[in-house]
Amino acid sequence: MTATTTRVLTGITTSGTPHLGNYVGSIRPSVQASRNPHTQCFYFLADYHALVKIGDPARIQRSTLEIAATWLAAGLDPDKVFFYRQSDIPEIPELTWFLTCVTGKGALNRAHAYKAAVDKNTAAGHDTDADVTAGLFMYPVLMAADILMFKAHKIPVGRDQIQHIEMARDMAASFNHLYGDHLVLPEAVIEESVATLPGLDGRKMSKSYDNTIALFAPREHMRKQIAGIVTDSKAPGEPKEAEGSALFQIYQAFASQEETTSLREAYAHGISWGDAKQLLFERLDREIAPMREHYESLINEPARIETTLLRGAEKARDKSHELMTQLRKSVGLRALGQASAAPTKAPGKATLPSFKQYRDADGLFYFKLVEPQGTVLLQSLGFDSPRDAGRAIGQLQQLGSAALPGLQSRLRVLRDVSPEQIHLALTQLAT
Ligand code: TRP
Repeated sequence: MTATTTRVLTGITTSGTPHLGNYVGSIRPSVQASRNPHTQCFYFLADYHALVKIGDPARIQRSTLEIAATWLAAGLDPDKVFFYRQSDIPEIPELTWFLTCVTGKGALNRAHAYKAAVDKNTAAGHDTDADVTAGLFMYPVLMAADILMFKAHKIPVGRDQIQHIEMARDMAASFNHLYGDHLVLPEAVIEESVATLPGLDGRKMSKSYDNTIALFAPREHMRKQIAGIVTDSKAPGEPKEAEGSALFQIYQAFASQEETTSLREAYAHGISWGDAKQLLFERLDREIAPMREHYESLINEPARIETTLLRGAEKARDKSHELMTQLRKSVGLRALGQASAAPTKAPGKATLPSFKQYRDADGLFYFKLVEPQGTVLLQSLGFDSPRDAGRAIGQLQQLGSAALPGLQSRLRVLRDVSPEQIHLALTQLAT
């Protein structure tokens, strides 16, 4: 690792089966990024996030297995990255709480997903928070903890996630402002060259639209799904528009420049939709078939994936544990004898008044109480020995202004200093 190392982090929610859109938009580019020697990559299975949406334990477990196997089948080398399951990192929920305590509730009120839920309820005439869990409300904080835990610089995400990254930045800044410079402010990376894949119905391919093409469905199943992509009703021989054709866009996401150009020409020459679908199927199968084989062998050995994930978590926890140890101290969750490790807002030594002892030309021993900027608050008369002077200081430190009456005859009155100033200074110093 060099000083120029960029830490890249992204997570996939374990709520479903990976589809072509996940592969093109996230998995394929993240595997490519992991081969760059100047990046350190953190890729994880966001299973705590899945709990927000999915109340089906078997589905969460299955999805975790499928997404992990997909990443590995797509060529991710778990020894070269941090590859782990979110719920294997207990420091993440702990950091979530720390961040919760520096996050304005109002900021969470404005998060898109929560607001959409509220708007939907309002439109339907229901209570604004009907069926909204605190999990949905807190989703952005959990996500910020994922990111800030590993001091990630770059977060490759889809546009719908930009607000979450901005919220994570804000939380990091608030935390740092209060407790010192511990957290790194992350940035969203929207890869413009990475296509947003359309789904079967032409809208963005997404679980929530139920328009996906599974990445590793059996070969014949994929052929059937491709046959279901919507097209217009142009007959064979009629020229067809490449622009706005979902079929064309999916092809483009897998094909080379030349292949894309020749499909564009075929469209212009009136290729039938059936033939175009066959071309797409063949092109996809060429990239996917070898990975599918690998995927199937992985899926059939869940224990091996489990071991890989646990090893990844161990590696990640070296970092998460180290950061949380530092953060716990910084917020004040620390051993009672321990000195403050980080700058805090409490007055430090440099901002407190202090006692200065000295011997004057008359041979006697004196002390004064001086503010950091030089104002003298108390001035003693001469003591015969340094021990006597020290004893008087000790009384002032222990008893504060209560020691003043007993020491009256040993102190000189200073005109410009009020009793309140002296009282305050002694209270601050009292041990
Ligand atoms: N919220 C992301 C999604 O739905 C998944 C996610 C969870 C994530 N934690 C993250 C993405 C941290 C990037 C970084 O796609």
